[in-house]
Amino acid sequence: MTAIRPTPARAEADGPAAVPPFAVIGGGQVRHTLAGREQEIVDLVEATYRLHSAGDTVNPPSYFLRFPDRPASRIIALPASIGGQVRVDGLKWISSFPENVASGLPRASAVLILNDHDTGYPFACLESSIISATRTAALAACAAAALSRGRARPTRVGFVGTGLIARYIHTFLAGTGWEFAEIGVHDLSPESGAGFRGYLERTGTGGRITVHESAESLISSSDLVVFATVAGRPHVSERSWFDHDPVVLHVSLRDLAPELLLSTANFVDDVEHCLKAGTSPHLAEQLTGGREFLDGTLDDVLAGRVPVPTDRPVVFSPFGLGVLDLAVGKYVYDEVVRAGELTVIPDFFHELRRYG
Ligand SMILES: NC(=O)c1ccc[n+]([C@@H]2O[C@H](COP(=O)([O-])OP(=O)(O)OC[C@H]3O[C@@H](n4cnc5c(N)ncnc54)[C@H](O)[C@@H]3O)[C@@H](O)[C@H]2O)c1
Repeated sequence: MTAIRPTPARAEADGPAAVPPFAVIGGGQVRHTLAGREQEIVDLVEATYRLHSAGDTVNPPSYFLRFPDRPASRIIALPASIGGQVRVDGLKWISSFPENVASGLPRASAVLILNDHDTGYPFACLESSIISATRTAALAACAAAALSRGRARPTRVGFVGTGLIARYIHTFLAGTGWEFAEIGVHDLSPESGAGFRGYLERTGTGGRITVHESAESLISSSDLVVFATVAGRPHVSERSWFDHDPVVLHVSLRDLAPELLLSTANFVDDVEHCLKAGTSPHLAEQLTGGREFLDGTLDDVLAGRVPVPTDRPVVFSPFGLGVLDLAVGKYVYDEVVRAGELTVIPDFFHELRRYG
């Protein structure tokens, strides 16, 4: 393996197609590239999301690979394509094995493949659990800002489920100017709650940290609530816990009872994507036989087409779009190339002459 600037290899001496060299970008390089750039990444993710909402991307439904012998686990394929100036295609392939957590290993692991716009050849494989967490947290931070406009800016944040995604969301909120007087923590696992609290203390974040024994206590005392659990079916159904009309980032998608969503304002990232796979909005659609409970998409809010009610709790359920992984992955690739630190695998694609 060599660290070089990418020089396309020509298949034929005088042929038209140039195949980019194949590179591998590890988690250390990804993390180093993204660290401290929260606002820039939120801007990138928001711009890509809006491009998607305008219909300028290709983002087919995610494919869920499940296993009869390991029902709690899954691997999801998210193919996507971005045109315009970015011009990149690709695939995110992300595993969720919740039992990893018992041994201290993260639940999710992932790779992202970037494909060349002109030849279709894959030109990079990136460690992608960090990219996935980053794009998720960036869109959550974008939504928190957009959905709380027009109401008093939340100063009490609460996290239900405190694994890696909660940590990234906190990092992105803090990195984009949010300041909290109080930070609530609730997790079924005391170790996870303590680990998250330790992270908050180490980062020297302002605000009083409270570990809540119940979801009720946390929700009732937070005006920005983040759900980042691994709950497979709804476990929160009590409407009175939300009587103070908080903004809710329902990132784990399956925590809230569908009945509850009938009395809240509901926004999603993409309607067709989100009303699938047993998410709470999907259950609400099945319960009511329609989509009237949805107020709109985050893009509707960003574009000013739909106002955000201030007299109801506001719930944002983002399904997660492959185009966002692709945009962040291409950003990392370009930055690594710019720094002259790309690690190329020489001769990865060996059969480059059709007739030998
Ligand atoms: N919507 C998106 O775009 C998107 C993207 C990435 C991840 N996610 C989701 O985010 C969630 C969190 O991911 P992670 O990597 O941080 O997982 P993780 O396993 O590291 O952490 C999840 C935590 O939730 C806790 N938990 C489970 N059930 C709970 C409950 N009922 N109440 C309180 N705590 C509970 C667990 O003990 C664990 O500590 C997952 O559901 C994942 O699918 C969503």
